[in-house]
This record gives sequence, C-alpha cells and structure tokens, in this order.
Amino acid sequence: MAYSEKVLDHYENPRNVGSLDAGDAGVGTGMVGAPACGDVMKLQIMVGKDGVIEDAKFKTYGCGSAIASSSLVTEWVKGKTLDEALAIKNTAIAEELALPPVKIHCSILAEDAIKAAVADYRSKRSAGDLPSASEYAACEPEAA
Ligand code: FES
Repeated sequence: MAYSEKVLDHYENPRNVGSLDAGDAGVGTGMVGAPACGDVMKLQIMVGKDGVIEDAKFKTYGCGSAIASSSLVTEWVKGKTLDEALAIKNTAIAEELALPPVKIHCSILAEDAIKAAVADYRSKRSAGDLPSASEYAACEPEAA
C-alpha cells in the first residue's frame, strides 16, 4: 500500500520526536495503544501559565501512519489552549494525511493520545493544590 506524500514527509522527517520531563507540573503525558496492531504512542504537552500549549513531543512505536499522525498533531497543538487541542478530531488528521480506511485507527491513536495528555495534565493540576517549591522554601523549619 502506498503512503501519501504527507505521510512520507512526516515519516521521514518526524517533527518533535522526544520526551518532556513527565515529573514537571506543567507537562501532561498521554500513552495509548492500539489493541488491533499493538502500536504504542506517547504524546506529551508542556502547558504554560496562560493555559496555552507551548511545546509537544512524541514517541511512537508503530506504523508510518501512526508516526505521521503523532508528528502532525504535535505541530497542531502548539499554540492552542487545552480545549482547542481536545477539539482536534482524528478525521481531520486522516484527511490531512490522506489516510486510507485501514489506517484510520492510526489517526484515532493520535486523537486519543492528545486527550490522554490533556487529562493527565488536568489531573495533576487538580491533584491538589500542593504548595509549590517556592512556597515550601518559604517555610521555616520549626525548632524542636
Ligand atoms: Fe496500528 Fe498504524 S497500523 S497504528
């Protein structure tokens, strides 16, 4: 099966491959797998104080369409708010990359990976208003 030119472009020159520090409070990590083929995609977002996605990285162990889908969405989410990123549909990814029907699930993986990354970021934020590092530093230890 022939890949479209756009798939080949992203496959041969993937954008934003790599990892962000998952322990950073501003980073959301989404890890998803496709049961049908066993391919796995990790997508991470770095969210700024203004709620806008500043950076995104991915690592995908999968087919060319999955790699192209994740490469494309890391480009798309940058500069977007979380809600805007959640609005990215796999159909738009599949259309942009001209994916054939048997490769639609590869684009679904990318949509799911964004959703998982945003959910991870949000759950970290609501996990508690833990004092920030600087607030900790401001606490003087009690003398015993
Ligand atoms: Fe499964 Fe592409 S064949 S993600």
